[in-house]
Amino acid sequence: MTARAIGQSLPRRDGRAKVTGTATYAYETPVDRPAYCHPVQADIARGRVTWLNTAEAEKLPGVLAVLTEANAERLASTEDAELAVLQSAEVAFRGQLIGAVLAETAEVAREAADLVEVTYVEQEHETELTADGDYDADTTGDVETAFAEADVVIDQTYRTAMYHNNPLEPHATTALWQDDGTLTLWESTQGVHPARAKVAEVFGLDSEQIRVICPFVGGGFGSKGMPHANVILATMAARALPGRPVKLALTRQQMFSLTGYRTPTIQRTRLAADRDGRLSAIAFDVAEQTSRIKEYAEESGKPSRTMYAAPNRRVAHRLSALDVPVPSWMRAPGECPGMFGPEVAMDELADALGMDPIELRLRNDPDTDPESGKPFSSRNLAECLRTGAERFGWAERGPRREGDWLVGYGVAASVYPVNRSPESTAAIRFHGGRYTVDIGAADLGTGTWTTLPQIAADALGVPVGEVEVRIGDTDYPNASVAGGSSGMITWGSAVVDAALAFREKFGTEPADGDEAEGSVSQNPDEERFAMSAFGAQFAEARVHADTGEARVPRLHGVFAVGRVINPRTARSQLVGGMTMGLSMALHEQSVLDPRFGHVVNHDLAEYHITANADVGEITADWLDEHDPYVNAMGAKGIGEIGIVGTAAAVVNAVHRATGVRVRELPVTLDKLL
Ligand code: MOS
Repeated sequence: MTARAIGQSLPRRDGRAKVTGTATYAYETPVDRPAYCHPVQADIARGRVTWLNTAEAEKLPGVLAVLTEANAERLASTEDAELAVLQSAEVAFRGQLIGAVLAETAEVAREAADLVEVTYVEQEHETELTADGDYDADTTGDVETAFAEADVVIDQTYRTAMYHNNPLEPHATTALWQDDGTLTLWESTQGVHPARAKVAEVFGLDSEQIRVICPFVGGGFGSKGMPHANVILATMAARALPGRPVKLALTRQQMFSLTGYRTPTIQRTRLAADRDGRLSAIAFDVAEQTSRIKEYAEESGKPSRTMYAAPNRRVAHRLSALDVPVPSWMRAPGECPGMFGPEVAMDELADALGMDPIELRLRNDPDTDPESGKPFSSRNLAECLRTGAERFGWAERGPRREGDWLVGYGVAASVYPVNRSPESTAAIRFHGGRYTVDIGAADLGTGTWTTLPQIAADALGVPVGEVEVRIGDTDYPNASVAGGSSGMITWGSAVVDAALAFREKFGTEPADGDEAEGSVSQNPDEERFAMSAFGAQFAEARVHADTGEARVPRLHGVFAVGRVINPRTARSQLVGGMTMGLSMALHEQSVLDPRFGHVVNHDLAEYHITANADVGEITADWLDEHDPYVNAMGAKGIGEIGIVGTAAAVVNAVHRATGVRVRELPVTLDKLL
């Protein structure tokens, strides 16, 4: 009998290569005679380019070509306006691509890009999000009557900031066109197959003409989940220079306008309850932005539909199309900003009732999903709250004063849906006494290289050391994007299916070269059950009584995420999410200057991300949860839930410590004095 691989804390298979620098990232791919691309970006927020003088740039030794709207190839599809690179002279946001320089070195390309002179006709622009205007509302029951008749009402407006994903590895591409018209892209992406499909559509190619390769990713947090304009530019640039591969790595500053971000939100949150704390209504009206050229809607209202048992519910969204860059996915899109207002409002309601905020949540914990009426496949939020309270020492929550520091604890709940993509295939081959599993999956630091072998080994009934997994290449079977915490759930299901098919065909003593495929299939239980992961986040805040400096020495999260495939990589995901949540609570904020339409703190010197010195003790744990309905592994996604609720827990802790309720993130000292 082989020891089960699932549940073992195996070290990352790619760890050594990553920390010793031998893992090759997209930009580093060795190719012959590469040319380097540097973008030229618009420096107005709205208008039209009337003249682009490239003469000085072209004169610079080492410059190979300057691409502009005038000489760039016409794309087969411009339907996705974010990807319609150099197809029009119109400028829809500051930082938009209006040209590019190709040169022998990256330095020459950059210098030449600075020499391009641009003349514009400017139009008036609007980049400021407001809460005014029409909302798209979805209502259940009689919300207004519930508010009119409630014993206690909370009605507050909360704001989350604009945030940029900022993975360590920038968005980067090495693009190579062959003479036969085929294209190879070494691309930093969360999904080689989805990236290929998009590039094929934009350039009017068959998917078979394109190969996308990405064995390693230095983070993405959603910003590499769908291709952005840089990929199209690099591909175009390589076609403009026959025989030369092209490399393009965006600078940190360029990433602030070209690769997506999280919209700011303005959230009016209303709760109605009786004196015992039973919610009769929840209303959540959220304003968000998108760009004028492409609609991206952050579904912030989603979680408030299913968190608590309130019979009357209203969720309303307002999406403003502004002259700003295109927003996109950022870790826990929807749930992350959408749980901020409601989870702080719950704390405000607990205060108004004089009730423990944990007790308030327990009283409103629903037996079935309030929105669909379906039972939960598993929920266990109450257990997360109770276990976390015990371990964190909730009884000592303050407020108290220790020297010059005001101390208090806060709590908030987390939720993230169990998402599964309908598409993914895995192929298993037996060769030389070992099994190789091929699937075009991605590992953006999440652990896929390590956890897929664990799933395969158990499904095949062999030691994990006999299984090799190969991912990150469109030459392997089609796989879905690493997004929405769906990766492991989807690919793992395909791998289990392939292993079952393999065993059925060849038994336990296969011959050399035996091969079988399997795919993710419909899960009928998804019709019967509401499926989500849940969690409880606890924060200790310390605020300096004189300066208002806020510190969070301790964060603890307890999660209900189904079966954990690998405790080491799982803990890393949860702690990573919580760290990003701490960052959102205290530090991160993209500051957009409405006069010019750009983010002024567009680098890591001024866009402050929580660093080691800001992090005290962050611990994540999980319940021993067995959910037989979610998938063959019994596992829920864990990449995103760690960020959900963290900022609310911190704000609630700061309130406990100081009595000051911060409703606009981040919690900076000016808001505490
Ligand atoms: Mo995640 S933001 O869906 O990569």
